[in-house]
Amino acid sequence: MSELRILTPGLGAVSTTLMAGVMLARKGLARPIGALSEYGDLDGKPINDLLAPLDQISFGAWDPYDESAYEVAERSGVLSAEHLAAVADELMEIVPKSAVFDPTWVQALSGAPHVKTGDSHMDLVEQIIEDIESYRADGQRVVMVWCGSTEAYHHPTAVHQSLTDFELGLKNNDSAIAPSQLYGYAAIRAGVPFANGAPNVTVDIPALEQMAEQYGVPIAGKDFKTGQTLMKTVIAPGLKARRLGVRGWFSTNILGNRDGLVLDHPDNFRSKEITKLGVLDSLLKPEEHPDLYGDLSHEVRINYYPPAGDNKEGWDNIDIVGWMDYPMQIKVNFLCRDSILAAPIVLDLARFLDLAGSAGNSGIQDWLGFYFKSPHPVEGRSVEHDLFVQERVLMDEIRALSGRLAPVD
Ligand SMILES: NC(=O)c1ccc[n+]([C@@H]2O[C@H](COP(=O)([O-])OP(=O)(O)OC[C@H]3O[C@@H](n4cnc5c(N)ncnc54)[C@H](O)[C@@H]3O)[C@@H](O)[C@H]2O)c1
Repeated sequence: MSELRILTPGLGAVSTTLMAGVMLARKGLARPIGALSEYGDLDGKPINDLLAPLDQISFGAWDPYDESAYEVAERSGVLSAEHLAAVADELMEIVPKSAVFDPTWVQALSGAPHVKTGDSHMDLVEQIIEDIESYRADGQRVVMVWCGSTEAYHHPTAVHQSLTDFELGLKNNDSAIAPSQLYGYAAIRAGVPFANGAPNVTVDIPALEQMAEQYGVPIAGKDFKTGQTLMKTVIAPGLKARRLGVRGWFSTNILGNRDGLVLDHPDNFRSKEITKLGVLDSLLKPEEHPDLYGDLSHEVRINYYPPAGDNKEGWDNIDIVGWMDYPMQIKVNFLCRDSILAAPIVLDLARFLDLAGSAGNSGIQDWLGFYFKSPHPVEGRSVEHDLFVQERVLMDEIRALSGRLAPVD
């Protein structure tokens, strides 16, 4: 059985934490906690029997800086010196290919040096496809998970509405096409399942949705559901189950990593704000319970605060109302580690997308909504945010996929 190679546009804190964790787990030096694909059971059998084993997983990446995975991991400050030393040689071997990058989409990284050049977007796509082919030269199966910086928010335009227009836009260098969309297009054309871990608009456009169906490739997104939103999708269904009212939910975060620096720019924050704000309305359904949730004010803030490093602190102030309208407050202070929460999500997504692709799934995989702040909906189906409903849907699909596929050996 060939190995699975996980390709990440973006060799940053999340992707290097994933890589180091897999390498350390293989050596028995760390536990892959938080990965359902490692710890989950289905009908009494371990889910990982169905999936690419950890010792057959390898990596590849693109980044506009040419630091090795070791240098990035060391600079990101997520992992201890002891953990890094144990896998230093393996991490040093992972060096990113040059990126398709345009600073107009991520202004905070203007001047990044390790960038591809080409005559047109289509030319850049061909270069990404060549990279993908070099990554699977030994017959590996590959999946791609966008772990790059959050791009500035741009509403989709006419060029995103059909594959024909999109391909014309690639040839004509249409400035509305984002770099992440070039990776998404290249992945689908190369038959590589694709997931988007960031909040930018990438494969969630009609052109690439159509293309994924046409090429028989699974796609999923978007924006890893890690800290604050994970808590929201646990707490809000609980409050709603007891029909407690909610008047306000104020969420604020401080973080000091490169992701925080990028999100400090208003255009990039806008992408994040949209995915974070959508969650509560969909969970509480104010249209069905206007007396309990109709007047809810929901605010989200992110502040770049260098001393916090990768250890994001998220505060939530929740104003709730109970019996006879007496007000109460819940305060949540989550001192989390962003990349420690995100790394197992990348591992699960990569393995489950690989399973889905091997079983013949194509197009939007909304059953992977469990992992996302803003699940990519299939047309005509509503978006589910409740973590426990999402878990059930995920398990049902894995069961269905396993029925269609012999176990990976
Ligand atoms: N960690 C979490 O909890 C979490 C949760 C949800 C979403 N995310 C998203 O995941 C992404 C990765 O997070 P991170 O903490 O690793 O960020 P990071 O800043 O450490 O890494 C991102 C990397 O992407 C690179 N990059 C930027 N544009 C690129 C391009 N066009 N092609 C290839 N590489 C490019 C940057 O140089 C950087 O090295 C971010 O978009 C973040 O918003 C993270």
